[in-house]
Amino acid sequence: MFTDYVFDCDYNGCQKIFTDFVVVGSGIAGAFTALKLSEKARVIIVSKGRLTETNSTKAQGGIACALSPGDSGDLHYKDTIEAGAGLCNTESVRALVEDSSRRIKELLDLGVNFDKNSKGELVLAKEGAHSCARILRSGGDSIGKGILSVLIERIKSNKNIEIYENTFCTDLLHYGDRVCGVLSVDKKSGCPLAFIAKGVILATGGIAQVYKYSTNWSGATGDGIAMAFRAGAPVVDMEFVQFHPTALLKRDGEVFLISEAVRGEGGILINKTGERFMQLYHRDAELAPRDVVSRGIFKEMLKTNCDKVFLDITHKSREFLKSRFPTIFTMCYNSGIDISKEFIPVSPAAHYSMGGIMTNIYGETGIKGLFAVGETSCNGVHGANRLASNSLLDCIVFGARCAEKALQYYSEDFINPEESYNFRHPDRSYWRCLGKRKHHLTGEIRKTLKEIMTKNVGIIRDQKGLKTACDFIRSRIITSKFDCWEDIETLNMLLVSYFVTLSAIIRKESRGAHYREDYPAMMKEWEKHIILQKRGDRIEVTTAYNR
Ligand code: FAD
Ligand code: SIN
Repeated sequence: MFTDYVFDCDYNGCQKIFTDFVVVGSGIAGAFTALKLSEKARVIIVSKGRLTETNSTKAQGGIACALSPGDSGDLHYKDTIEAGAGLCNTESVRALVEDSSRRIKELLDLGVNFDKNSKGELVLAKEGAHSCARILRSGGDSIGKGILSVLIERIKSNKNIEIYENTFCTDLLHYGDRVCGVLSVDKKSGCPLAFIAKGVILATGGIAQVYKYSTNWSGATGDGIAMAFRAGAPVVDMEFVQFHPTALLKRDGEVFLISEAVRGEGGILINKTGERFMQLYHRDAELAPRDVVSRGIFKEMLKTNCDKVFLDITHKSREFLKSRFPTIFTMCYNSGIDISKEFIPVSPAAHYSMGGIMTNIYGETGIKGLFAVGETSCNGVHGANRLASNSLLDCIVFGARCAEKALQYYSEDFINPEESYNFRHPDRSYWRCLGKRKHHLTGEIRKTLKEIMTKNVGIIRDQKGLKTACDFIRSRIITSKFDCWEDIETLNMLLVSYFVTLSAIIRKESRGAHYREDYPAMMKEWEKHIILQKRGDRIEVTTAYNR
């Protein structure tokens, strides 16, 4: 099923660019890691869109750090473990909370403007399933822009960093048993490029674009996970996809997130008939863990035969809402909703992938020279369900750890440029096709895939639906041919959808973000991870008990 494309090639017509490290991805994970690497090495940062086209840019709520009196790393640890429903890797969570204040201080030193009160103290907000107010904000509701704009400014003025925007990475290059670069194509000219380096860091973000309704940017198609898998790296926990409870479907069809922080400020959820309902599902009502709120909303939508519920924040003044949530206020206002007077229609949307490329707490994948950080990676820090505002923290904490580890490779001199013609990479026909512009797979397949994933592999799953999705995806992977980078992106979407579906079929229980109507209970014997790895043209499935 997964044909091994790999054999030698003479690189005809391909521009080769040598550097120390290639970082694929310019979100907060990639940008922070690149800056750290650049202290000692030359770095190329590649993004398939413009540098700011990322999920990081869209982050609203904040970044978690136990800073308030009465809070502690231990409490943050406990909340993260509880949200993770028995599948967090305790070593990773310990690293996350222990490194957090140090990394936040670094962001402050770099010039990130976290919101402060009139006394000049950092403001801390509360979000669902956090036992304390510990969410640092920026610009009210635009933490992502607040952090990423500063990192990008630093990257642009850094002499050790070279930037390639609108460059789509397709697959990894091998040299012996290690990864030594990445193949890509310039999206504008169609010219192939090979970045050759001592280490490749994948920071390619999430997968939520495989669903019809998603809070993610259009490029969240799981490319890094697909590339790493093709290169032989294990992927893990793919069944755990987080659905954000409150997304607004705008008139133009675009999905816009209504931050959890709105519920943190007292926003309540009501159904079509005007009843508040979340207290029926959890003692913490609107501030219950995200998976519980999403399922509660989903059930109310079914019960009331309506495609939405409503978020009511009208008890807050217009002035407060405009300054606390400037982006949300304006976006809703432009969509015809004055949130100080009207309820916001919301429904759940695919938001975050807890699973990804399996790594340790240094971003190492098990393949020499290949690292992964941020949402594309999985070191088990989020378990089966991520706690709100822990993702950006994950990006900077493990980005820094990964850079430290990767720099150890720096002193190794393993590449002889003369030998570069012998690198292994996908076959010649694949190579030649990159520049072409036919759209065999895109369009229709993507549309059907998104519908099937939403219907069958969404918030509530069962064997029959999962099997339907699995059969569809399998047939498309086997029969489709790729002709251009858009097709490879579609192929990646099919591949990561297959991983989610296959893992969801195997996990015969409900846990965290994975809910099976036919297996509604959480089972002790399933306190383990599902790992998928390419073996020839097959997928090998193994399970590992949680650490
Ligand atoms: P991204 O920021 O998504 O960056 C991915 C990068 O990879 C991009 O530069 C892209 O161009 C590049 N890339 C991908 N594929 C390729 C390829 N084939 N070739 C070349 N480049 C490629 N988390 C929080 O902690 N707090 C929040 O408040 C919060 N709010 C959120 C709000 C929204 C609407 C969304 C969508 C997410 C939110 N999250 C939040 C989650 C968090 O923003 C993301 O998990 C995090 O930003 C991921 O960062 P990243 O660097 O791993 O990936
Ligand atoms: C939000 O602001 O609700 C998103 C926070 C997150 O995904 O961590």
